[in-house]
Amino acid sequence: MPMIDVRNLHKSYHTRDLETPVLHGITLRIERGEFVALMGPSGCGKSTLLYCLGLMTHFDGGSVIVDGTDVATLSEPERARMRRERMGFVFQRFNLLPALTAEENIGLTLRLRGETGHDGVMELLDQIQLAEKRHHRPSALSIGEQQRVALARSLVGRPSILFADEPTGNLDSDNGNRVLDLIRQCHRDMGQTVVMVTHNEEAAGWADRVIRMRDGRCVDG
Ligand SMILES: Nc1ncnc2c1ncn2[C@@H]1O[C@H](COP(=O)(O)OP(=O)(O)O)[C@@H](O)[C@H]1O
Ligand SMILES: [Mg+2]
Repeated sequence: MPMIDVRNLHKSYHTRDLETPVLHGITLRIERGEFVALMGPSGCGKSTLLYCLGLMTHFDGGSVIVDGTDVATLSEPERARMRRERMGFVFQRFNLLPALTAEENIGLTLRLRGETGHDGVMELLDQIQLAEKRHHRPSALSIGEQQRVALARSLVGRPSILFADEPTGNLDSDNGNRVLDLIRQCHRDMGQTVVMVTHNEEAAGWADRVIRMRDGRCVDG
């Protein structure tokens, strides 16, 4: 059974009386433990597809089956639970909570699940080389450090699927490589399924497969 099975997915955005069709019948399968890079020109619908797969938005037609569950059958609380327990997200903007320290930001996922897991948090802080700065708030961290914290936060719950949307988009190449290394390492060590939007051909080179999109359709992969 594939981890993600998408059939004929259609989605439009509706704002007032304006309808913007974005996804025009996407069909794809992502296997368990596969690392997929999603590429395509700006505006072609990559983020929208990721939001549909990550249950962050609804779609208009077709089906999305995640780990054997047809997501259309889930209630809102069930969707939230699937996101929280099975999925990790990292975006181009870090979405860290400004009032919380690095350590607290990373631990948040676990707290929301009612787990503790202090050891896991410390282990990740070590891995991203920020153990010494664990009490710093995001504003006291560099952009590269903030992105590492965001990545650690998305990984701490050991999600079976990691969604990353241009995770290195705001980073210089050094910091970008660190983030990519960490994603690759988690994929390798924990067998995580990874779906990563990227413009970086080198990063895409690490993936098992590249899916290319254009104008809301998959054109390759
Ligand atoms: N919330 C929204 N409301 C209306 N249109 C949107 C919204 N989000 C994205 N779009 C439009 O959908 C299209 C695809 O956007 P997006 O999925 O972000 O593309 P990509 O990530 O490939 O750059 C673009 O034309 C964009 O302007
Ligand atoms: Mg995007």
